[in-house]
Amino acid sequence: MAKTIQAIRGMNDCSPTETPLWQWVEGQIKDTLASYGYSEMRSPIIESTALFERGVGEATDIVEKEMFTFVRDEESLTLRPEGTAGCVRAAIEHGWIYNQEQRLWYIGPMFRYERPQKGRYRQFHQAGVEIFGISNAEADAELILLTARLWKKLGIDQHVSLQLNSIGGLEVRTKYREALVAFLQNHLDILDEDCKRRLHTNPMRILDTKNQAIQEVLNNAPKLHDFLDEESKSHFETLCSILDAMGIHYEVNQKLVRGLDYYNKTVFEWVTTALGAQGTVCGGGRYDGLVAQLGGHSTEGVGFAMGLERLVLLVQEVNPNVQLARPVDVYVVYQGTGTTAAAFNLAERLRSALPQLRVMQHASGGNFKKQFKRADKSGAKIALVLGESEVENNSVVVKDLFGEVDQITISQTDVIAELTKRFA
Ligand code: HAM
Repeated sequence: MAKTIQAIRGMNDCSPTETPLWQWVEGQIKDTLASYGYSEMRSPIIESTALFERGVGEATDIVEKEMFTFVRDEESLTLRPEGTAGCVRAAIEHGWIYNQEQRLWYIGPMFRYERPQKGRYRQFHQAGVEIFGISNAEADAELILLTARLWKKLGIDQHVSLQLNSIGGLEVRTKYREALVAFLQNHLDILDEDCKRRLHTNPMRILDTKNQAIQEVLNNAPKLHDFLDEESKSHFETLCSILDAMGIHYEVNQKLVRGLDYYNKTVFEWVTTALGAQGTVCGGGRYDGLVAQLGGHSTEGVGFAMGLERLVLLVQEVNPNVQLARPVDVYVVYQGTGTTAAAFNLAERLRSALPQLRVMQHASGGNFKKQFKRADKSGAKIALVLGESEVENNSVVVKDLFGEVDQITISQTDVIAELTKRFA
């Protein structure tokens, strides 16, 4: 036998038994976005490497070490590690955000060369949302309300909590960074290698180190909020007051800075303790400078992205009774002369009249016993049975495979009414 070829490490297949839950989660997300009036945009999975270097930031983990980059015709290309940069690139290129507000969303695979573990993969999927052209905190609040509504629909709202922070503008962060570096210079002995490296490249990322000893020292570090400018402060106060009024609980976490360079003012994360180390199911914030930085007219932006693998894992963990659609509702079995055409006719008629039903027709021959085994395995609730005598009388046997109703024989003319009743 030829040697089999396996999937690439950190990149997963989704089996036909897993896809119904994925489709359900994606359906809840799309319905929620539609109910807020957002529009879907789509963009390529591959972009110029320069887009992420300039957009996400050279000193971020993503750009420094996690991108899948390759050269084709002397051009450096990268599999998108996140969706915001591509969305902004497309919005500038096509004039979607020139002098107008936009509320956009996208869904699809992202790629990061990280060490795979539960909840962290090299190909993963995000649903992301970006609002353009609104500077007010109302936009930030709307995004948070939208996510809170979605958690309720997914049945995970009791298992996620909101972390919120304001990181101000560039000037604020420059001043704060200086103060933080000066503080940490006095504690060099406690810093690990990773933090020492970040001290010179991206010192604010040290704030969310998992190293407990460093975290304790950081408790005495200068506080970001003491450096905030008036505008950022009032933006944050407005956001908090809307969330308070709407009954959204949050924790202000001054150490939350996020791993991408484009943020200013609001940053937030929804986290869970139910998934182990990879507990952030959704992260986002404001990025008022990014559009201009990527060559567009200065336009404010705010958005977030959620990790679909983590959401699916969380739903499985805390909401195992979610009602998923059956893959097959009705299975058509038939045997004998003249029954093949009758079965095709019946199945096609059902699909036209009852498009919401999932109708599978047996196709691999064999006697009724074998066909009923297939029908059971398909998960169908109803089997429709056609033998020679049924074809002759224009009738059909309706058999409840779950054994809830006795088997009956009815005229084929009544089958649509009968199934409508059974699946009401
Ligand atoms: P991010 O925090 O890098 O933000 O990613 C958002 C979410 O994607 C994370 O909270 C997590 O749920 C999921 N995620 C990230 N990396 C992985 C991975 N390796 N495996 C599985 N899931 C993962 C962004 O990407 C920003 N573009 C979000 C944004 C949109 N900010 C403003 N607009």
